[in-house]
Amino acid sequence: FEVSSIRSNLLGWYDENKRDLPWRKCSHNDVNRRLYEVWVSEIMCQQTQVGTVINYYNKWIKKWPTVERLAKASVDQVIEAWAGLGYYSRGRRLLEGSQVVMNDLDGKIPHSSAELMKRIPGVGRYTACAIASISCKEPVGVVDGNVIRVLSRMRCIGADTSQPATMEYLWSLANNLVDHERPGDFNQSVMELGATVCTPKNPACSTCPVSGYCMAYKKVEREKKLSEERL
Ligand code: ADE
Repeated sequence: FEVSSIRSNLLGWYDENKRDLPWRKCSHNDVNRRLYEVWVSEIMCQQTQVGTVINYYNKWIKKWPTVERLAKASVDQVIEAWAGLGYYSRGRRLLEGSQVVMNDLDGKIPHSSAELMKRIPGVGRYTACAIASISCKEPVGVVDGNVIRVLSRMRCIGADTSQPATMEYLWSLANNLVDHERPGDFNQSVMELGATVCTPKNPACSTCPVSGYCMAYKKVEREKKLSEERL
């Protein structure tokens, strides 16, 4: 399993093909603001398409540019800003989370995935690892729906993701694969690959930067060749 080639191919592809998303522009160096912005974007992107999220995200950040400002918002304001995104509990928990940060954590969002998961309501393993890797370069992998599809195909795992052991295996794959210099970009490259190339139906394998390391791709190619030989 050629880990270093997979890393460099994915990062090179990401540099050329990444979408221009507002939370990817690092407009300031304040780590607390960076953590807050990535936190908001990751919560919004759960169960909602990235394309839909962009407008909501921009309006949200304009209204509440910092965790301190969000903590002073009312539930009604938050629900109003969330209208159309669906799953309102995500918005409410973001508000609760901001209040925990202000009341219990001296206004500082934790930097590590372990602390984020432990302290912030609504932040589970995926969100904690996404925030810490993207904002603070913690070298941890992430596993979401897109990553599950990419890794399962790459390693040709047909296993049932409702089984905790399967998910543990996928997390260990993601953790072994993540680039230690650029963990946030690496994680986003896998998500991006899943969203744009390694799609559920008709994946665009001919443009995939890691098709040479993909067991599912090899299997399909081999079957194609065999059926041609039979003709
Ligand atoms: N989906 C969830 N988080 C994302 C991110 N940071 N980039 C692309 N897609 C995502």
